[in-house]
Amino acid sequence: MSSEGHFSVNACLMPVCQLHGAAVTTVEGIGSTKTRLHPVQERIAKAHGSQCGFCTPGMVMSIYTLLRNKPQPTMEEIRETLGGNLCRCTGYRPIIDGYRTFCEVISSFISGFLHAVGESLEPFRTETSGKEKLLPLDPTQELIFPPELIRMAELEERATQTFRGERMTWISPISLDELLQLKSQHPQAPVVMGNTNLGLDIKFKGVVHPIIISGFRVRELFEVTEKPEGVCIGAGSSLSTVRSVLEKCVCSLPAEHTQTLAALLEQLSHVAGEQIRNVATLGGNVASAYPNSDLNPVLAAGRCSVVLQSREGKREVPLDKDFFVGFGKTVLKPDEIVLSVFIPVSRKGEVVRAFRHAPRKENALATVNAGLRVWFEEGSNVVKEMSVYYGGVGPCTVSAERTVQQVIGRPWNEATLSDAYRALVDEVTLGASAPGGKVMFRRSLTLSLLFRFYLHVLQHLKDTVRPPSGEIPSEQLSAVERLPNIIQPSYHEFQDVPSGQSEQDPVGRAVQHQAALSHATGEAVYCDDFPRTQGELFLSVVTSARAHARITHIDVSRALSMPGVVDVFTADDIPGKKFRSFTGIDEEILAQGEVTCVGQMVCAVVADTKPHAKLASAAVKVHYEDLPDRIFTVEVAVEKRSFFLPQREIQRGDVTKAFQEADHIYEGEIRLGGQEHFYMETQSMLVIPLGEEKEMKVYASTQHPTMVQEAVAETLGIPSSRVSCHVKRIGGAFGGKLSKTSILASITALAAWRSERPVRCVLDRGEDMLITGARHPVLGKYKVGFMSDGRITAADVRYYANAGHTPDDSVLVIEKILLHMDNAYNILNLRGQSAACKTNLPSNTAFRGFGVPQTPWLHCGCASSCLTKNLYKETSLTHYKMEFDPEVLLRCWEECKERSELDRRRLDVARFNQQNRWKKRGIALIPLKYGVGFAEGFLNQAAALVHIYKDGSVLVSHGGTEMGQGIHTKVQQVASRELDVPLSMIHISETSTSSVPNTCPSAASIGTDVNGMAVKDACQTLYKSLEPIRKQDPNGTWQSWVQLFGSNTSFIKWGKNKRHDLYMDWVKQEGRPYAYFTYSACCSEVELDCLTGEYRTVRTDLVADIGRSINPAIDIGQIEGAFMQGLGLYTMEELKFSPSGVLYTRGPGQYKIPAVCDVPLQFNVYLLSGSHNPHAIYSSKGVGEPTVFLGCSVFFALKEAVAAARSDAGLSGPFTLHSPATPERACIACGTRFTQMIPETETAQPWALELP
Ligand SMILES: Cc1cc2nc3c(=O)[nH]c(=O)nc-3n(C[C@H](O)[C@H](O)[C@H](O)COP(=O)(O)OP(=O)(O)OC[C@H]3O[C@@H](n4cnc5c(N)ncnc54)[C@H](O)[C@@H]3O)c2cc1C
Ligand code: FES
Repeated sequence: MSSEGHFSVNACLMPVCQLHGAAVTTVEGIGSTKTRLHPVQERIAKAHGSQCGFCTPGMVMSIYTLLRNKPQPTMEEIRETLGGNLCRCTGYRPIIDGYRTFCEVISSFISGFLHAVGESLEPFRTETSGKEKLLPLDPTQELIFPPELIRMAELEERATQTFRGERMTWISPISLDELLQLKSQHPQAPVVMGNTNLGLDIKFKGVVHPIIISGFRVRELFEVTEKPEGVCIGAGSSLSTVRSVLEKCVCSLPAEHTQTLAALLEQLSHVAGEQIRNVATLGGNVASAYPNSDLNPVLAAGRCSVVLQSREGKREVPLDKDFFVGFGKTVLKPDEIVLSVFIPVSRKGEVVRAFRHAPRKENALATVNAGLRVWFEEGSNVVKEMSVYYGGVGPCTVSAERTVQQVIGRPWNEATLSDAYRALVDEVTLGASAPGGKVMFRRSLTLSLLFRFYLHVLQHLKDTVRPPSGEIPSEQLSAVERLPNIIQPSYHEFQDVPSGQSEQDPVGRAVQHQAALSHATGEAVYCDDFPRTQGELFLSVVTSARAHARITHIDVSRALSMPGVVDVFTADDIPGKKFRSFTGIDEEILAQGEVTCVGQMVCAVVADTKPHAKLASAAVKVHYEDLPDRIFTVEVAVEKRSFFLPQREIQRGDVTKAFQEADHIYEGEIRLGGQEHFYMETQSMLVIPLGEEKEMKVYASTQHPTMVQEAVAETLGIPSSRVSCHVKRIGGAFGGKLSKTSILASITALAAWRSERPVRCVLDRGEDMLITGARHPVLGKYKVGFMSDGRITAADVRYYANAGHTPDDSVLVIEKILLHMDNAYNILNLRGQSAACKTNLPSNTAFRGFGVPQTPWLHCGCASSCLTKNLYKETSLTHYKMEFDPEVLLRCWEECKERSELDRRRLDVARFNQQNRWKKRGIALIPLKYGVGFAEGFLNQAAALVHIYKDGSVLVSHGGTEMGQGIHTKVQQVASRELDVPLSMIHISETSTSSVPNTCPSAASIGTDVNGMAVKDACQTLYKSLEPIRKQDPNGTWQSWVQLFGSNTSFIKWGKNKRHDLYMDWVKQEGRPYAYFTYSACCSEVELDCLTGEYRTVRTDLVADIGRSINPAIDIGQIEGAFMQGLGLYTMEELKFSPSGVLYTRGPGQYKIPAVCDVPLQFNVYLLSGSHNPHAIYSSKGVGEPTVFLGCSVFFALKEAVAAARSDAGLSGPFTLHSPATPERACIACGTRFTQMIPETETAQPWALELP
């Protein structure tokens, strides 16, 4: 690797031994709130690009690195740089907007950002006036490479370095000879380069290598030689370096020589993210022999070779089908290394292309990829030579040799290729239970990628063969065109604050998140950032490996004898209650005797360090006796009557009669998959026993500190008064840090109780995904009756939610599903039934939207034009007899229709679809009516405590937790207004049960409503008590009044909100379960690639009613973030379980959440004006959850696009598209000739369960 330059890397994969002599720059190093901010830190904060802040340092450092290498980047470079970073909160748009201010060419979209930073509430400002307010980027002020390290490099003897750890020795030689010598001495020791493959095995699969040899300092591995015949690239070159080398070659060589180089470049731009490409090496990619390596199929098709070397000597072998001998295996001998890769220049008449399809457009391993080459007789279209290699369709890179034989010696035309497709169907096959699943889709991709190559080559031949041998018909051109990907300016419309509002009053203004700068500088403290305390221990849980079994024995002897292990305990050791009860049904904290899902917690191991605890927990042997009747799907649960009771039903009108009278009846079912919360900060807690009077202090990342406090107290059998729970901030929660955190905190507290030492528990991502459950997957069976004029007269829907093995709050979820089944439609004869199915899968739990996102069934059965007719039009009763006025709903709908120019764009979409066979567009407008509040009245309450200190500073404590939704910022705004003091005087330190007890959870979108009201109440009382002093000294200041008053009175006040008395009577089927409704409408347009199912959201317009916004920037952030989470839910995110109930998708590698490449290319959000709400503070409305649902606008737009493709394929009538509409589902639903060529697979057990 080069000794100069700046590289962003993933800290978790970078071996510390590799960093010897390198300067590491961290987010804390580039700027701070105490000294000087770096512009990269300032801009993300000002652009509202930070919510929970957990991802923010990563974003900052990615862009920092880009700017160090290129101070004026292009927008494309910024987008690409962010491709390797994930954010679950923001929806990325504000991050992009913040960073586009560094671009040299700044177009008018800068105004959107300036509008958002709150400099002005006018929609447009001049560019310069805004930019002047941002810290300038001054490259001369940047950190320099430390002179000590330069000196060290000069003075240090160049010798082999050896680092010895507890279980591993790291040897880093400096010469090739030494490296080869070591390899011959230790043939089983791997050569580590970028560690992006090896590191995953060590970290996640527990692979132990006693010796690791690093090739990082061996110069020969990095040599690049350009020759007329091609380029020879050292195997140690990072993929980023390879990219630069290839770019240079492509620019300097004649076009006919660059076919393979350009094809490799194409693949490289999609391999992983920047952080991985900066370290992953070419040789590592080749030697790893991944079945879906993106490079190997192109290298193989492009006639490349590798130089292998051992102490015995060098040999050059072709990188072809014989090089890859099995999964992860090549012809390399144990003592050999890959020295270099040779890429020959292409010859006249040769065409090389590479394609890939992945579950996400960027930063995802390919599902299927291909490297294809064809060489023609000079001046003709007759094929002289051809290679076709695929990845992702076998244990290693696969050559389609028999297919190629169909083509060689024949002209390049449709007839030849048709024979090739038929041969390919027989040649590249996959068994029904092939690892990775998606069998039909993967097989169809091999065909459609070959078809795409066929068209590319035809295009090429048009220019090289005289007379031209064939033209691509214009409607077929869409097969070779790319999906659009240029992010356009977006528009965000705020509401104005009333004229005359004091400048100091922050309510209604786009105030920056109170901790944004702490996030951006890395100063923000999360639970696991609390420094290690004296004697602290770490807890790791042992989970069940069986879905349904009796535990016959737990053998902890080996674990107890391992280094650092202090304790192992089971349910028998719990002194207090051994279970928790969330909705009246007991759930075990640790399994007692029987396990009912894979991932259920069985026992816990406590050790001095995390690695020791992890190793020991892996050494605990749990013996099982399998029990019969495992249930995984809702179908089986229904058949076996396996439910958590009660089931719910609601009905209005005469549904049976209405069906009899309907002109048309449509029946169907839709499966809505579950969704992993994927909060960036995994479940984390630290429990400190105070050593006196059984007091325990719990620091936890939880949305419900009171529940944690109660759970810990009950588990230990002590009063709640001895337990305090403290939450500084949460790195994302989305509903996943309610019930599950309290169980984990109980276990951690027990460890602290037994050891009398502080204990920390921080789940790894894989554990978190395995243990803590997800959004409920739901099967919806619907029947809709409608008249010929489009009026829906009857609907009957049954919902079956897969609850998993414990009830958690599943019954509340299925209740909410029924309460929202009408959405925005007035259906006079409506029946809904719902059930929480008990299965042997991990227990599902609350997730943003709490059931509402599982309800968009109605759109499946009806044309969108028909839905318009059925909107609530006048003051009406819902199906549970709650009265409401839909005036605001209709305004959202109309405004969205107008803003999105729906009517015109529908025509454009139809025209586009007519002109293009392989790309289709779809557009859908979806309304939403969303009830805010907890139907359980007692949960809608809050309290707050406000202290005013003698210097005038104010400390506010309230019951809400800050998880990125900006509640602390909004509450500060409330306090600032009520006390009439600047925001800067108000501080919120943490949420704590010892300051504000008996709080309700921060959930159901009511956090600001109830806590804001409580703070307002407390501040108003305090302000009133100052009145006599103010009258006495009207010219005084806040500080002088406070000093005067505070000298003889305590300045502390309680406040509480006026509780909403909400209820739902399921016997009478009526109630007032919500304080109020919030409304919105969203229009999305997509473009779909029918050959791969890949799609792009080209535009989204969202009009949201949030009453009078307290902070429009934060509210827009919530709306965008929720929408993107919905987009993930309905189109991307897939939880996959094995047939025996083991979760496969346990990390970002397998589970894809939306990344920057998934943001709608144009994403406009408008806050509806003129909406008021008497039920919440300052007439605002809850905003956190509702717009998750509107992600389904993308799903229904996709469905329209699929319908257009089906019509071209001669398929008509209704069809089923389950959610998420992944590329696999969309592509198969298109019914192209390629999907239709794949025969039905045999009836072997599929690789994954079909859920729910
Ligand atoms: C998040 C992520 C995303 C990824 N996405 C993609 C993708 O989209 N497309 C894709 O193709 N790949 C992808 N990869 C895989 C990545 O490209 C490979 O892991 C990488 O190229 C391996 O190189 P390395 O230097 O990190 O290898 P290491 O992890 O250092 O080594 C891997 C293996 O190769 C051996 N090895 C390494 N160098 C040599 C050598 N010179 N001689 C002999 N043996 C050697 C090692 O002994 C080891 O067995 C991704 C990886 C990650 C972590
Ligand atoms: S702000 Fe990005 S994950 Fe929370």
